[in-house]
Amino acid sequence: MESFKKRIVSSPPKPREEIEEMNAYSAPLEGRRNFLRLDFNENTIGPSPKVLDAIHKIPPNQISIYPEYSGLREAITRNLNSSTIQNKLQADQIELFNGVDGAIHAIFHAYASKGDLLLTTVPTFGYYNPCAKMQGMKILEVPYEGPSFDFPLNAIKESLIRNHPKILIICNPNNPTGTRTSAKKILELAKASPQTLVVIDELYEAFLGDSLLSVVNFSKTSNLVVLRSLSKTSGLAGLRIGFGISNQEVIHRIKKVTGPYDINSFAVAAAFASLEDQEYTDNYVQEVLKARTWIQQKLLNHGVKHHIDGGNYFLLWPKKSSTEVESSLKAKGILIRNMKNKPFIEGSLRVSIGTTAQMKQFWEALKKSDSI
Ligand SMILES: Cc1ncc(COP(=O)(O)O)c(C=O)c1O
Repeated sequence: MESFKKRIVSSPPKPREEIEEMNAYSAPLEGRRNFLRLDFNENTIGPSPKVLDAIHKIPPNQISIYPEYSGLREAITRNLNSSTIQNKLQADQIELFNGVDGAIHAIFHAYASKGDLLLTTVPTFGYYNPCAKMQGMKILEVPYEGPSFDFPLNAIKESLIRNHPKILIICNPNNPTGTRTSAKKILELAKASPQTLVVIDELYEAFLGDSLLSVVNFSKTSNLVVLRSLSKTSGLAGLRIGFGISNQEVIHRIKKVTGPYDINSFAVAAAFASLEDQEYTDNYVQEVLKARTWIQQKLLNHGVKHHIDGGNYFLLWPKKSSTEVESSLKAKGILIRNMKNKPFIEGSLRVSIGTTAQMKQFWEALKKSDSI
């Protein structure tokens, strides 16, 4: 009995070696409710009233039973096919996920083994790294080029040829640099590297992006996945729903690693309503693009060091430390994202673009911070 007790105390179960060695995704996620939130590139006005209506109308028995997804893939397919797509999509080329985060996790889980190589860019979205590490992958990061953070096309090409990575992931437009990469060039990369799964995170595509969906034919291209979400444009970030779009065979494989009910009934009802009110989403995107022009003009007129390209965000280098300006804006009720310790953009702030009124509020607070 004595030795049994000792054994229990001295040898708790060990997680996989990869888990012990990795760091979890970390971001300042809490305590954001009462601020103007320009820190996570979210929709800053909320979803369509039709979404709220659909959620209110959910009957109790839809909450007490497991969610049903029937018709949702078809609704997404119709929605995507109504945009400028050369080769129309089919419903079995789409899978639903608990946000694009869920899709990224599932793709790495399905495709990457210990020792495989991930090729990606730097700086980029912070969740690719932990997903690769949890599979025990090695990571090769190619920096964006020059002061305008251009896409490192030749370096990526060379690395694909030399290293044969298992996965290449590109965020397009890239978070946080806004770098836009030509869809045609990405398609050429994918065609030239059939041994690599090329994943294109198009979360911010609606904000001046160039979508792969407009050029790819998934029936002929079997190593490409496009990721989309209703988080940022449609204002459903809190409900968690995203999509992966690919060749049927890839979708079939990724589906194997998802749970049967990963997306909840509220997200399903909201997604149907949101997809039916595309006009609301389009109007919001237009408002953000107007606000983008407004703030860009202010930054240029005042000679503020900044970088603005695709996406609903921009980078700004204040004259004071990024931490000092972050605190000053927070004291005025505004959250932005401090890029402290981020390679290549150290000292900058990433500011999400909302409505013009919100950008005016931000601009006034920034001027008062005495840092531009
Ligand atoms: C580039 C990128 N991909 C994915 C996500 C997560 O998206 P979702 O809310 O659909 O999980 C984010 C969130 O900030 C992001 O910036």
